[in-house]
Amino acid sequence: MKKTRIYLFMISIGIVLAVFIGYHTLLPQNALPYDDDQEGLSDQIVFKFSHVVAENTPKGQAAAKFAELVDKNSNGTIKIVVFSNGSLFSDIEEINALKDGQVHIIAPSTSKLGMLSTDWGVLDLPYVFPNYEAMVEGIHGKIGNQLLNSLEKEGIKGLAHWSNGFKQFTTNNGPIVVPEDLRGQTFRIMQSDVIKAQFDLLGAESHQESFNSTYNLIEAGTVDGEENTISNIYSKKFYNVQKYLTLSNHGYLGYAVMMDQKVWDQQTENTQKILLEAMNETTTWNDLNSIKLNEEQLELIKQNSSIQLHELTKTEIEKWKTDLDPIYEELSKTIGEELVGEMQELRMRFEVEKQ
Ligand code: LMR
Repeated sequence: MKKTRIYLFMISIGIVLAVFIGYHTLLPQNALPYDDDQEGLSDQIVFKFSHVVAENTPKGQAAAKFAELVDKNSNGTIKIVVFSNGSLFSDIEEINALKDGQVHIIAPSTSKLGMLSTDWGVLDLPYVFPNYEAMVEGIHGKIGNQLLNSLEKEGIKGLAHWSNGFKQFTTNNGPIVVPEDLRGQTFRIMQSDVIKAQFDLLGAESHQESFNSTYNLIEAGTVDGEENTISNIYSKKFYNVQKYLTLSNHGYLGYAVMMDQKVWDQQTENTQKILLEAMNETTTWNDLNSIKLNEEQLELIKQNSSIQLHELTKTEIEKWKTDLDPIYEELSKTIGEELVGEMQELRMRFEVEKQ
């Protein structure tokens, strides 16, 4: 009996060993064909950069340019892998994904950062920047830096502001010429209470929905319209499902490029230097590229679609400003009186320079 047990035990060990050895000899030892790109892979640092817009947009092109510069300046030892069109995370998910370490770099629109700090709402105030020069000073000067630094308390490293440009209205219920034209209409907007307050003030209903659901919401008739930059209207083909486009330039749309602070702190000084230098070069390049791209894509919309276009005249813009301006007073406590005051000072300075 004892002999039989020993015999059975030996057979079991034999079977386990045979399966183990067999499995390992069947595994492809060199599954991947040789590729010199993979040489030194273990020495390579890879950062995943996720965003929600198309590649032919200011943010899409800036992300690609940043990746190219980092690759070049690090001799291929640092790679930025860009995921566009919300293919990894939607705008609603990406901040948590960054905090969880599922992605390393994101560039959400600043309008969506109210969940981190109400200060960000200052950039959503109506007609906040009278022109591009004011915008450059606003986002790259004292106000912009203060906003990026405010991310620290959330454990986030703010790297830069990338502008997209100014927002326009599109709708199927138009044309939109005067503020009263918004009354009773329904719009998809970004996740921002400051933007919502403006639609409320003008008697419009607003739905805070993700960017990538916008086309379907319009097509299904759930909303009449939306507000966005020309580049987003063009690259997501909103012009195919909207009848009216109003060039209103009524608000700013731009991005805060950010990393998780812990991930940033783990990098060597040299890696941080390479990332920052590439980021600064990309940011300066984007300031002009975003203007150019929006202009080119407006021409493409004019050529390729039957959308009915209206450009607000100076007098019409004055009426929009007068009607929307009470928002500054209404929200200044929530956003921060000092910050709103600084922004109003900048706005006035550029208004005067413009005349
Ligand atoms: C939007 O949600 O409309 C924009 O923030 C999308 C983007 O990232 O430009």
